[in-house]
Amino acid sequence: MRILFMGDVVGRTGRDTLGRELPHLRRAMKIDLAIVNAENASHGFGLGPDMADALFAAGADVITLGNHAWDRKEIIPYISQHPRLIRAVNYPPETPGAGFTVIDLPGGRRALVLQAMGRLYMDPLDCPFRATADLLARYRLGTTVQAIVADVHAEATSEKMAYAHIFDGQVSFVVGTHTHCPSADAQVLPGGTAFQSDAGMCGDYDSVIGMTKDNAALRFWRKMPGERLGPAEGPATLCGVFVETDDTTGLARRVEPVRVGGRLSQAMPEV
Ligand SMILES: [Fe+2]
Ligand SMILES: [Fe+2]
Repeated sequence: MRILFMGDVVGRTGRDTLGRELPHLRRAMKIDLAIVNAENASHGFGLGPDMADALFAAGADVITLGNHAWDRKEIIPYISQHPRLIRAVNYPPETPGAGFTVIDLPGGRRALVLQAMGRLYMDPLDCPFRATADLLARYRLGTTVQAIVADVHAEATSEKMAYAHIFDGQVSFVVGTHTHCPSADAQVLPGGTAFQSDAGMCGDYDSVIGMTKDNAALRFWRKMPGERLGPAEGPATLCGVFVETDDTTGLARRVEPVRVGGRLSQAMPEV
């Protein structure tokens, strides 16, 4: 199975560029399953229902959220009606929406996509490790599902690495989101799980993690609140990760970064 995971979509430039390019990326890499993190799509804060519709229409099979999940309140009724839009699995019970989804793919294959939110330097939530272990007790890689992808939405690289090692061999692919900078640690772990500690963002890198650099820099430099942060709107680099798995075992064969357009050095796997 060929899986493409695209990192946090930030603002209009990320949204429009990914919406335009995703069909081409899917074709170029012969993608079976495309997942997009869109917690920052709406001016950096949350995801509007119209934006979710547009990303699904462009070819996202699953959309994940994050700590900005509820910034746009209109997404709360939407998530209850759209099971392919997921929030973190370790929110308290009875939070709207679901923390995972199982989707049917061509060839009779099924894939489980989940999101877990870290707790280091983040708002307190239920244990992401326990929530994932409970879910994986119900879905077995290579038997009930042919692929399992876990989006670990977390600030600390250490927490994301620990998560990947804990579930190495039980999950096809662990990918970090939230920090908006693509990490250079893509690897297949010893147990067969593909891992990259952060996918990066789909946004303008002439910025502070996607937000206009002057306003963001002032907050650090003067310690003054300044104006509300807004997204930088220059050309976006689309950052993501490509993974190829074995349909029999569900484990990863290869993992490669994807960086297309904008300011970052370019990377495109050969398929
Ligand atoms: Fe984000
Ligand atoms: Fe986030």
